[in-house]
Amino acid sequence: MPDAQILELIREAFPDDDRDLEAFQLRYERYETQLTDALQAVYPDHPDLPRRLLEVMLHAYHERPADLRRLDQRRLLSPDWFQKEDVIGYVCYADRFAGDLAGVEAHVSYLEELGTRYLHLMPLLRPRAGENDGGYAVQDYREVREDLGTMRDLARLSKRLRESGISLCLDLVLNHVAQEHEWAEKARAGDARYQAYFHMYEDRTVPDQYERTLPEIFPDFAPGNFTWDAASGRWVWTTFNSYQWDLNWANPDVFLEFAQIILFLANRGVDVFRLDAIAFIWKRMGTNCQNQPEVHAITQALRAAARIVAPAVAFKAEAIVAPEDLLFYLGRGAHHGKVSDLAYHNSLMVQIWSSLASRDVRLMEVALSAFPHKPTNTAWGMYLRCHDDIGWAISDADAARAGLSGEAHRRFLSDFYAGEFPGTFARGLVFQHNPRTGDRRISGSGASLAGLEVALERGDARAVDLALERLLLGHAVVLGFGGVPLLYMGDELASLNDYGFEHEPTHAADNRWVHRPRMDWERAKRRHDVTTVEGLMFAGVRNLIRARTGTPHLHATVESRVLTSPNPHVLLLEREHPLGTLLCVYNFSEHEQGVPGWLAHARGLGAAVDRISGEHVDVGETLTLPPYGRLWLTAREDASNRW
Ligand code: GLC
Repeated sequence: MPDAQILELIREAFPDDDRDLEAFQLRYERYETQLTDALQAVYPDHPDLPRRLLEVMLHAYHERPADLRRLDQRRLLSPDWFQKEDVIGYVCYADRFAGDLAGVEAHVSYLEELGTRYLHLMPLLRPRAGENDGGYAVQDYREVREDLGTMRDLARLSKRLRESGISLCLDLVLNHVAQEHEWAEKARAGDARYQAYFHMYEDRTVPDQYERTLPEIFPDFAPGNFTWDAASGRWVWTTFNSYQWDLNWANPDVFLEFAQIILFLANRGVDVFRLDAIAFIWKRMGTNCQNQPEVHAITQALRAAARIVAPAVAFKAEAIVAPEDLLFYLGRGAHHGKVSDLAYHNSLMVQIWSSLASRDVRLMEVALSAFPHKPTNTAWGMYLRCHDDIGWAISDADAARAGLSGEAHRRFLSDFYAGEFPGTFARGLVFQHNPRTGDRRISGSGASLAGLEVALERGDARAVDLALERLLLGHAVVLGFGGVPLLYMGDELASLNDYGFEHEPTHAADNRWVHRPRMDWERAKRRHDVTTVEGLMFAGVRNLIRARTGTPHLHATVESRVLTSPNPHVLLLEREHPLGTLLCVYNFSEHEQGVPGWLAHARGLGAAVDRISGEHVDVGETLTLPPYGRLWLTAREDASNRW
């Protein structure tokens, strides 16, 4: 930062003029084609849409607060702000972390201590009362959940976070609204304008035709994809729960509503929008109604609007889909670099748990090497655990290439993490068993799935050590991958499963709440005491974060490339950065393992430094790793360089 006097001199040299107007104009010129092409592709019969959208954008631009306009300029100058190695994400429910928004504000120092630069607060816009799918059934996008605070509190919190260099991510639920949302209420009352916001049918003819090719998301508590609504006398499309009404994005009014909502929230200081269940927003008969091309054109149009009004904003796609579909969310073909800036790397998470169970990395190698490169202006969001269940997204083709049966391996993983497989270390719960497809997803906290719960129960000190090492290995892979690593609240303290959800009426049926605990601040107080489990975990995670922020090779423009490992227990990832090569070496077994030393020598890493421990490593004939050992090796001379 230049000093205050210099800034003052610069300011005085420029009287107030119409720079704001000029900024808008220039950005509009820059993004006009992206905007109009996308709108034309999706809404060809609505030539007035760009003009209607312009009105929305101008209104929002006039309202944009001065400090956020400065942030816009700053981020335009550093468009890679979310790709940097020092971006560390933390994900939590405001109430479960600290009571309410004011509580979060009071705990910013905890986030700073961890090194957080990005905070995802789980759904906090006003949901329907009662069951609401963890807040993903929104009743009002312009109000905050009453017990958390107000919109004003949210704006204040975002400002406070900004002062600490932390950006704020919120969920934007755009596939559905709560059946109590004003639009749905009007539709239920028979208002034709609002019925056109949804997919409503007088009888089962069309729903039955769609059902032929639709999967079920919650077969246990919400079978089928349509719900009878007695008030309107219609079948309504409800992909998720019966109270979550899918929106009809083919209606340009729905598009405009969401453009307004995004800009409204951006003006309250939201930096990143997590586009919830984005894969589902466009419906097409005869398909599974996911990943349709219109989804990407709509994202492109929304992003262009955001870039014009609030270029500080980034989009993150929550598309838990196969790799060949996933890359489209970061932009392939004509949408290259024009859609979401970030997307979740679900496959990495699944493969980490798969390799921890099998102690074998060959399937992970196959799966990760099949991933096409992402556009260089985008980044993955990586995580070991999140608020959702783990679905065993392992394709039959990948499994076959690794010499496995996909079906049998998925069954093994469900058994293993449900705590049913002989000798398993894990303790988890089966979520949404679908006997028709054999799908058995798993709920559970990272620590319980990694063996800590069982180990503590047995009072087995060695098993406790191994569980912690497993967790730290998992975090090392996540933090060492490049992109935005997302720590899920409690991960830093090795929080166990919380079975209390069974006694909360609105949670009891949904065992994902087993891994959505309340923050245990008593345990957090012991985080600096390394004679405790939480202290060891916190120190380990903090150290990885320190290592990560000091390793420019982890900037997201560079890809992590899988090397075929001569040892099936050891994963090798390479990142070829202009500063030099980073070689990540991970032992997925509880036994000491080695890989031939020439692998390091061949990359100029014979005399290396391990960024995690900070120690020099002189690689001889064999590079040996302790149980669950992890190394981030770079040449010693790279260590002092900054990018
Ligand atoms: C996303 C959320 C999940 C929710 C679903 C429906 O997948 O992560 O928790 O149930 O969307 O909104």
